[in-house]
Amino acid sequence: MALLGVNIDHIATLRQARREFDPDPIKAALICEKAGADSIVAHLREDRRHIIDEDVKRLKNALKIRFNLEMSIAKVIVDIACKIKPDQATLVPEKRQEITTEGGLDVVKNFIKIKRVNTILSDNGVGVSLFIDPIKKQIDKTLEAGVKIIEIHTGCFDLAKTKTAIARELKTIKAMTKYAQSLGLTVNAGHGLKYHNTKAIAEIPGMHELNIGHSIIAHAAFVGLEKAVKEMAKIVHGK
Ligand code: PXP
Repeated sequence: MALLGVNIDHIATLRQARREFDPDPIKAALICEKAGADSIVAHLREDRRHIIDEDVKRLKNALKIRFNLEMSIAKVIVDIACKIKPDQATLVPEKRQEITTEGGLDVVKNFIKIKRVNTILSDNGVGVSLFIDPIKKQIDKTLEAGVKIIEIHTGCFDLAKTKTAIARELKTIKAMTKYAQSLGLTVNAGHGLKYHNTKAIAEIPGMHELNIGHSIIAHAAFVGLEKAVKEMAKIVHGK
C-alpha cells in the first residue's frame, strides 16, 4: 500500500537525557533500514532538543534509503539543509515550547517565505514537502508555491475519540488526499499514527508514504527496534 518513513527523533531524545552517546540514532536508523523502513526521518529542531547537527551529517553518509530532514523554515536551518543535502526536506512549523509539532504549516500566511525556501532548497537539489493540515486552501497555496509533495497532518485523526469523530477525520483526510492528487501532488501523511490506526490511512488510494516515530520507538522499548519496525512495516506495506 504505502511506504514507511521511520522518525528516529526519540532515540536521540533518550540520548540527550544524559547528553552522552547512547543510544545512537544512526545505529537505530540502520536497524530501521534493515527492518524494512523505506526512509528515515529526523527533525533538526532549532533548540536541538533531540537530533543534533552531527546526527544529520552522519545520517546523510550512513543511509542507503532516503533521508527526510524535518525542519523549520528558519534561515539557519535552511543553510544547514543546503549544506547536508538530504533527499527531502519536510517543512514544519516550530514553536520552542511545544512538546511535539502541533499542527500543519500555514502556507497561506507564510506563502512568500515558504515559496522562497522551496526555491532555495530545490536549487540545492533537495526535494521539498510541506506538512499541512487537510484543508483545501493550504493545498492550493502549496501548489502555487511550486511545491510537489505534501504530508497531511493526521494529528486530529489520532486525537479523535468517538467513532463519529474518527470517521469524520478520516473522511476529511481521504477527500483532501484525493483533491491534492488530482492537482498532481504526491501525498504523504503522518503524526500521531499508532499500530491500531495506521491501516486506515495506509489504505487510502495512492497514499505514498507514512512518517511514524513515537509509537514505533515506544513499542521498541519492549520488543526491540527491529521487531517494532517490522510490525509497523507490515501494516503500512499491507503485507
Ligand atoms: N511527521 C511530522 C511532520 C512530524 O512533525 C512528526 C513528529 O516529529 C511525525 C511525522 C511523526 O509523528 P509521531 O512521532 O507522532 O509518529
